[in-house]
Amino acid sequence: MFVFKAAVVGAGTMGGEIAQTIASAGLPVLLKDVEQKFVDQGLEKARQVTQAQLGGLVQKEKISQEDADRQLEELTGRITGTTEYEGFGDVDFVVEAVPERMEIKQAVFAELDAVTPGHAILASNTSSLSITEMAEATTRPEKVVGFHYFYPASIMRLIEVVVGDETSSDTTTAAQNFAQQIRKQPITCWETPGFVVNRILNSAVSEVWRVQEEEGLDIKEIDKVVQESKAAPMGPFFLTDLLGLDTVLHVAEHLRESYGERFFVHKQMKELVDAGNLGQKTGKGFYEHG
Ligand SMILES: NC(=O)c1ccc[n+]([C@@H]2O[C@H](COP(=O)([O-])OP(=O)(O)OC[C@H]3O[C@@H](n4cnc5c(N)ncnc54)[C@H](O)[C@@H]3O)[C@@H](O)[C@H]2O)c1
Repeated sequence: MFVFKAAVVGAGTMGGEIAQTIASAGLPVLLKDVEQKFVDQGLEKARQVTQAQLGGLVQKEKISQEDADRQLEELTGRITGTTEYEGFGDVDFVVEAVPERMEIKQAVFAELDAVTPGHAILASNTSSLSITEMAEATTRPEKVVGFHYFYPASIMRLIEVVVGDETSSDTTTAAQNFAQQIRKQPITCWETPGFVVNRILNSAVSEVWRVQEEEGLDIKEIDKVVQESKAAPMGPFFLTDLLGLDTVLHVAEHLRESYGERFFVHKQMKELVDAGNLGQKTGKGFYEHG
């Protein structure tokens, strides 16, 4: 199956950049959210990351500033923001990127099932929820698949194609091909908790969270040491602020429930989430954000 037009639902931390990855491969893409201000933030994010990428090429003298300006307008012109489902009648592939809560995902999948053509593949960017359960909200469970990008989506090349109980092999192949069409590297896995990457990543980060809380270590100091050691581009607490504390906490709780004590749920993170402090997107998490 070829994808000629795509859509992204949810224009938050991930959605704007996901739309950008699709538009940068030359495809028209709709970007939907519930309010115009969120749509506008997603469109602005797509513009900023494109500008940064093209700016890098200009600096390396790979393209002229004139070419960069033209490409920026062309690429952003392929992304159409919307708060309605207009234009979804002829899409071939949808990536859902709404908050990590099954009831919201299922409501969106039921709506997508009604407004998209029967051949369209409905994919979810979920970090941990069951693809099979989302598919139950549709009349086409064989066309529902996980399509898990990593933050920041415009830069990270990997996509996990996650196969639910009902996902057909045609759908899995189409999702793998689409990932390659947008210049990403797909890997395929069953819907096991944490899939591949979060299972590995969280097993390591769990130990940092555990020792920080058990020994009352300074969070900023841990981040500084990790960054200075070059073990990772930034410390785990600052990274969590960028990813969104609600999303990271949900994954951590899911892994703890699935695999037991070896995965740690950080208490202060839970307290921050309960207080509505979700990191960069709300202005406060482990850090204050301007
Ligand atoms: N944040 C990350 O680093 C990351 C990485 C990989 C995958 N994910 C997954 O991507 C998904 C989205 O995460 P996020 O961090 O972008 O969340 P977010 O909270 O930053 O953004 C979610 C967006 O969805 C919108 N939304 C809510 N209900 C909607 C609806 N019914 N229709 C359309 N839009 C709706 C919200 O207004 C918001 O703008 C989650 O499933 C998450 O697990 C997140």
